[in-house]
Amino acid sequence: MKTQAKASAPAKVILLGEHFVVHGEPAIVLAIDRRARVTVNIRSDRKIFIKSEDIGISGFFMDDQFFPQRGGREAERKLEPIYSVAREILQKYRLKKGVNIEIKSSIPTAAGLGSSAAVSVASAAALCSLFGCDESKDYIFQIAFNAEKIIHGTPSGVDPAVSTYGGILWYRKSEPIRRLNIDVDLPLIIGNTGKERSTGKLVAKVNSLKERYPSIISKVISAGGEIIKRSMKALREGDLKTLGELMNINHELLSALQVSCEELESLVHAARNAGALGAKLTGAGGGGCMIALVSPEKTEDVALAIEKAGGEVFVTRKTDIGVTIEE
Ligand code: MEV
Repeated sequence: MKTQAKASAPAKVILLGEHFVVHGEPAIVLAIDRRARVTVNIRSDRKIFIKSEDIGISGFFMDDQFFPQRGGREAERKLEPIYSVAREILQKYRLKKGVNIEIKSSIPTAAGLGSSAAVSVASAAALCSLFGCDESKDYIFQIAFNAEKIIHGTPSGVDPAVSTYGGILWYRKSEPIRRLNIDVDLPLIIGNTGKERSTGKLVAKVNSLKERYPSIISKVISAGGEIIKRSMKALREGDLKTLGELMNINHELLSALQVSCEELESLVHAARNAGALGAKLTGAGGGGCMIALVSPEKTEDVALAIEKAGGEVFVTRKTDIGVTIEE
């Protein structure tokens, strides 16, 4: 058995379909070139010690009890999904071991870019590599998806799917995960409002709205699904103008679901006014990030407009590299 293993997994942006995907519609999502990196080591005791230097939290779990080192009880909430990944693997393979799990990530947290899923996916892969157990992507996805349920309540699985498989995915809960071979360059600018939010709370907010107004909200959700289906033609034809328009409609439907906020609206409208082909929130909303689709000649104007409206801009590229064991 090895004594150390490392793995990494990418962040994501949802191009179209967040929230609708929780209710059975498809989403189109792409992996981006920001990664969470996880190193795991065998311990001589039975503790599961987890440390995330970037967000300044650490502590260990022993017999399902948490002992904080840095970050207090808040650390427990954030580290629990990673513990659940370790526990699931240790229990399945009847391993009576302790491990150190160290996380380093360049993905902004609670911003809609799938940071927690990327950490769970990379942790699962690193532990499978360490213990020499099933390293298949399907298994890693499944463990990470189970961990996501602890934090996000009733997630769709889209975040761990794209972190695991990379590339551009068509994701729908009832269907096998489909990787799309689309040869179109998607020039996206990401704007971060800097406002942290909880995916679980926003998913619950939409569930509650749907319970109170079922006939209205189910129509909004199915209209969302139609946007995603229509966008496939635009993507295949490289028709960015139509894609941008569909992104705008997608955003307005998300506003109808009440998951936008003043800060996101301000960045989305600044991007559109500066000439973006389309702009929308990405991820759960309520803060976090928006994306703008831009033509090359408008890139600078749009980036500047988002910055002026108070957003932190970063340019990122799609990556085909999903979860990877690192040397
Ligand atoms: C979060 O990145 C995307 C949501 O649709 C939740 C989910 O699909 O699990 C809001």
